[in-house]
Amino acid sequence: MSQRTLVLLKPDAVRRGLIGEIIGRIERKAGWTIAALEMRELDQDTLEQHYGEHKGKPFYEPLMGFMASGPVVALVVEGERVIEGLRTLAGPTDPIAAAPGSIRGDFGTIVRENLIHASDSEESAQREMKIFFPGLV
Ligand code: TYD
Ligand code: MG
Repeated sequence: MSQRTLVLLKPDAVRRGLIGEIIGRIERKAGWTIAALEMRELDQDTLEQHYGEHKGKPFYEPLMGFMASGPVVALVVEGERVIEGLRTLAGPTDPIAAAPGSIRGDFGTIVRENLIHASDSEESAQREMKIFFPGLV
């Protein structure tokens, strides 16, 4: 079942020079391809659309600050079961709980600075792709 999902390489991943490492892992998965890619800084409006579900939670404001602290790389990745697959490749939200071999498990220690976002469902993927790549067909 081919799908598309929205991925963000967060400002910590960009600052630490991990763009190639992370995109390399994605590209090496059989049959997965990059359908769109852009490096950009995120304004508050875009971030609010993206993370609106978390508004009001204690981590929300620091998360917004962190996500605006430098450029991100936004990608649409396409391929077999890519929504679930990218969540597996990323690992759980808390990098210390994430298994070695996953992106968060290999490179992260802090929950907020967990390197990568990947859409969590078909509905989220559709919604998030529209935020970052409104022209994508
Ligand atoms: P969430 O959607 O729960 O995690 P995921 O990215 O795995 O889908 O949370 C969004 C981001 O918010 C998460 O990647 C990092 C940050 N966050 C915190 O800083 N503290 C927290 O306690 C949680 C749950 C998330
Ligand atoms: Mg989430």
